[in-house]
Amino acid sequence: MPQHANPLKTLFGGVLVSWIDQVAGMVAVRYGASPAVTASIDHIDFQKPIYVGDILILKASVNYVGRTSMEVGVAVSIENPYSGDEYQATKAFLTFVSLDENRQPRPVPRLLPETEEEKRRYRHAQMRAEARRELRQKMSNGELA
Ligand SMILES: CC(C)(COP(=O)(O)OP(=O)(O)OC[C@H]1O[C@@H](n2cnc3c(N)ncnc32)[C@H](O)[C@@H]1OP(=O)(O)O)[C@@H](O)C(=O)NCCC(=O)NCCS
Repeated sequence: MPQHANPLKTLFGGVLVSWIDQVAGMVAVRYGASPAVTASIDHIDFQKPIYVGDILILKASVNYVGRTSMEVGVAVSIENPYSGDEYQATKAFLTFVSLDENRQPRPVPRLLPETEEEKRRYRHAQMRAEARRELRQKMSNGELA
């Protein structure tokens, strides 16, 4: 809609980040069956511009879980309403942490990937989670401040 656009009449990135965060949050809350907060949004690629009037499809999945955290991947596609064609415009990876009634991190169920696609996502998300942890460590001890 026009109110979601920037001066170039394409979707304002901050609006899309908000939608991505909301959809990913729904998936995280559903998976953990408990409230969850966004711990980080550390990867977002705006691959294609999105124009006023485009129909968007946001698909989110839990790719990997640690003890209390979950990596959620979101793919945003543009659908052509006439042909039904769909192509990816944006992808993002977010980390959510499940919280207990005292707002403390709460363990989430183990994720058991079944299909080849789920296993591939799990492996890649695990690598990203490890890289994130390492980066956080380096930033907190001043190595990359
Ligand atoms: C996210 C939050 C609950 C983590 O609390 P914490 O005291 O750092 O908790 P811990 O150190 O025990 O870490 C808990 C988990 O979060 C992960 N984590 C913590 N900070 C993270 C970050 N910045 N990015 C990714 N993962 C993070 C840890 O790796 C750990 O994962 P694991 O249990 O799967 O191994 C806390 O930082 C917070 O409340 N942040 C504000 C969240 C918020 O307001 N979000 C925006 C609005 S929803």
